Amino acid sequence: MRAFIYEKYGPPETLRMAEVDKPAPNADEVLVKVLAASVNAADWHVLRGKPLFSRATLGLLRPKHKILGVDIAGQVEAVGSGVTRFMPGDEVYANLLDHGYGGFAEYVAVPLDVVSLKPASLSFEEAAAVPMAAVTALQGLRHHGELQPAQQVLINGATGGVGSFAVQLAKASGTEVTAVTSTGNLDLVRSLGADHVVDYATTDFTRSGRRYDLILDTVGNRSVPDLRRALAPGGKAAVTGFTSMRRLLGVSLRGGKDIAQVQAHVTTEDLELLSELIAAGKVRPQIDRRYRFADIPAAITYLEQGHARAKVVVAMT
Ligand SMILES: NC(=O)c1ccc[n+]([C@@H]2O[C@H](COP(=O)([O-])OP(=O)(O)OC[C@H]3O[C@@H](n4cnc5c(N)ncnc54)[C@H](OP(=O)(O)O)[C@@H]3O)[C@@H](O)[C@H]2O)c1
Repeated sequence: MRAFIYEKYGPPETLRMAEVDKPAPNADEVLVKVLAASVNAADWHVLRGKPLFSRATLGLLRPKHKILGVDIAGQVEAVGSGVTRFMPGDEVYANLLDHGYGGFAEYVAVPLDVVSLKPASLSFEEAAAVPMAAVTALQGLRHHGELQPAQQVLINGATGGVGSFAVQLAKASGTEVTAVTSTGNLDLVRSLGADHVVDYATTDFTRSGRRYDLILDTVGNRSVPDLRRALAPGGKAAVTGFTSMRRLLGVSLRGGKDIAQVQAHVTTEDLELLSELIAAGKVRPQIDRRYRFADIPAAITYLEQGHARAKVVVAMT
């Protein structure tokens, strides 16, 4: 089968298309014919082996896993001997971040705990846009407990992959949502349902005088004192992104109980919850750009610039 492989850490040009063996599913896996994938920040972090400490698990000198790609949607081609939940022909979506990646390929073996039936109303490309970003938004928003209607929620980075889902999920919970984005994206966040918008080019949300019950910082560019200043009494912040080691360590070491760095782990249960919200029309992936399989390095280059308008997807044609 064709796959994009990389044998050393580096920029997107390090990736090359190669013929590799088609995987065989283990007893508790399904083999998926990948029809679409989406690109995530995880792809360029893992491709570059950055931050450096991540190489302790990714491979010290060279990458342990040769094929990138975490989000996929496609059709079940074969099932492992212990699988009863799926059958060949089922349309599914999945995330491979915790299972060795491998999505930028024509086929991938997917463990049962990170795969779900694809929402019927979505195309394969739309479905591939969902797992990593939407589950991160979901787990970030509920990290400190379930959202309560009428709570004031602020989403920093509201038009990125994670943020565009977070705005919709927070609205679906009945909260009042303030979205922080750049001037050109104010209309987009309004269309996602944001009640209030903040243009970060002109307004610092931590100094506007407004206070929030929950801040989801998908960018990770704010310090702990900045975030704390914008919290209402008893308010909490969940930080899912990071822009530098200083910021990451700042939140991890100085955050405390009210401000937490959150690492998402995709589960079938959360994918099924998202499928229900999508079926109910409460959440819909927003696609910024579509790329062909052969252009995956260009898709990663675009995402790495940090200004995608929601999701970047790949059709495996
Ligand atoms: N913890 C986890 O499990 C997890 C999971 C997924 C992703 N992440 C991390 O989360 C981060 C975001 O991921 P993503 O997929 O949403 O990225 P993305 O799609 O690349 O989006 C980045 C967003 O950041 C916004 N942005 C840039 N500078 C900003 C600023 N100064 N203030 C406010 N917003 C700003 C951009 O909006 P404009 O274009 O309007 O500037 C853009 O919409 C990445 O660092 C990624 O590594 C973590």
